[in-house]
Amino acid sequence: MKKYIFNKSLKVSGVAFFLILAGCSYNQTPDQSNNSNSLPVAKENTTLPIPPLLEDKNPADDVAEFYLKAQKSTKTFLSGVETETYGYNGDYLGPVIKVNKGDQVKVHIENGLGNEETTVHWHGLEVPGDADGGPHNVIKPNGTFSPSFTITQPAATLWYHPHLLHKTGEQVYKGLAGLFYIEDEVSKKLNIPTTYGEDDFPIVIQDRNLRQNGQLTYNLNMMSLMHGMQGDTPLVNGAFDPYLEVPKGKVRLRLLNGSNARIFQLKFSNNDDFWQIASDGGFLEKPVKMNQVILGPAERAEVIVDFSSYKQGDKVQLFDQDIGLMNFVVGNKSKGVAEIPDKLTDIENINPSKATVTRTFTFQGMGKAVNINGKQMDMDRIDEEVQRGATEIWEITNTDSGMMGGMMGGMGMAHPFHAHGVQFQILERNGKKPQENEQGWKDTILVAPGEKVKTIATFKKDGLFMYHCHILEHEDAGMMGQFRVN
Ligand code: C2O
Ligand code: CU
Ligand code: CU
Repeated sequence: MKKYIFNKSLKVSGVAFFLILAGCSYNQTPDQSNNSNSLPVAKENTTLPIPPLLEDKNPADDVAEFYLKAQKSTKTFLSGVETETYGYNGDYLGPVIKVNKGDQVKVHIENGLGNEETTVHWHGLEVPGDADGGPHNVIKPNGTFSPSFTITQPAATLWYHPHLLHKTGEQVYKGLAGLFYIEDEVSKKLNIPTTYGEDDFPIVIQDRNLRQNGQLTYNLNMMSLMHGMQGDTPLVNGAFDPYLEVPKGKVRLRLLNGSNARIFQLKFSNNDDFWQIASDGGFLEKPVKMNQVILGPAERAEVIVDFSSYKQGDKVQLFDQDIGLMNFVVGNKSKGVAEIPDKLTDIENINPSKATVTRTFTFQGMGKAVNINGKQMDMDRIDEEVQRGATEIWEITNTDSGMMGGMMGGMGMAHPFHAHGVQFQILERNGKKPQENEQGWKDTILVAPGEKVKTIATFKKDGLFMYHCHILEHEDAGMMGQFRVN
C-alpha cells in the first residue's frame, strides 16, 4: 500500500488554493505507528451497503413521522473480526430520512445506548433551537426526545449525528450518523437521477482505526488530540473497499465526509470529470465540471458521474488522493437522463448591504487549547446574540500558520467552521469571490491556515444554537460557542 501523506498545495479550477491537509497516512495508525504490520483484510466481494430509507409512519400527505433508536451492536468490517459498534435502528450508521419541503416532521428518538446519554442533531437543517438536537437536548439512557419541525428550506442532502458535550467525537466514531434528504419541486422536476439505490446513491465516507485490533477504540493520544481522530481504514457506508454496480449512464452520488477529522480529496482513478450539482445546503445554480472535490469533515457534495461511455464490466475507483475508497463496476442496464441540465435552480444572492452586524470568529490554538475568539465552549455562556430575521456577515479566520504548525510537527491545520440552524453564502475567500462550487448554500466551510472567509446569512429560526469546528475532537475540546437568535 502506498504511503499517504497529506501535505500539498493544490490547484483547483485554476485557482491556487493552498491547503495543508494535516493528517496521517492510512497505513499508519497514529496511536500505534510502530505496530501496524497486520493489514486489514477486506471481506471478499463486499457490495456497497445502501442504508434503508426510513419509513414515514404517518399516512397524512404533508406530515412525516419517524422512529429512530440509537443502539449498540456489532458488525464485521474486516474478514473474521467482529467489531463493537453503535448505530441508529441497525448495526452501524443509520437509515436515510427523506422529507419534502413543507412537511411537518416529528421524529421519535429513543436512547438505547445503555448507560450513556446522547443527542441527535440535524446538521444543516433550519429548525428552531429547541428541535436542533444540540448539547442542551440531552436524551437520558432509555429516554426519548421527540422534536417536531417544519421543513422550510430547499432540496438538500443534510445529515444527523449525536452532539453530546465532549462526547460527539466518540459517538460518531462508533457509528452514529445518517443522511437526511429534503426534496422539493425543483429536485423533483430536474432531469437528474433520482431513483434511490439505482442511480441516486448515498455515499458516506469515513476513516476508522481498525487495523490494530479491529475495534473502534476511542482513545485520544497527542496526535489525535492535535489533528483529530484519523483512521487507517477508509469506509464507505460502513464497508471497507466495497464495490457498487452502476448503470451505464448518469449516476448521482450524494457524498458526505462523515469522518471525525480527515479532509478528503476525492477523484476517480482515471481522473474522469464529473459535475458537482449541489453543495451542503442544496443545488448550485449550474453544474460545475471538475475532476476532484475537496470535502472537509461534515461537508457534502452531490455529483453526477457519467458512465455511459464505459463498457460493461469496466471498473473505476473512487480515490482519496491516491488511495482507493470504493469501486464502481459498470453493469449492463442503462438509464435515462440524457443531458445534464444547464441550469439547476435560482439562488438569490444575499445583498451585503442588508447586513446589520458583522462578527468575526477566529480559530486559534491547538490540542486541548483550541478555541474560537480566545474562548472555549461554556454551556452557561451565550457568546453571540442575533436578532431573529437579521442578515449578518460572519468572518471566519484561521490564525494557524505554517510556521507555528511547523514547530509542532510540520503542518498547520484547516478547521471546518459550522453553525447550526442556518445556511450561509460565501461572499469572499481571502478577498476573492469563491470558486463556482462554493457559490451555493453552505453550512460547513473549510478554513485553511491563514485564510479569512467572509460569509453572509439570514437568521430565520429562533433559539439557542452552536457554532464550532467540525473536527470533532476540536469541538469536544472546546472549539465551540453558542449564539442565540431572538
Ligand atoms: Cu454536524 Cu454542530 O454539527
Ligand atoms: Cu450542525
Ligand atoms: Cu478545528
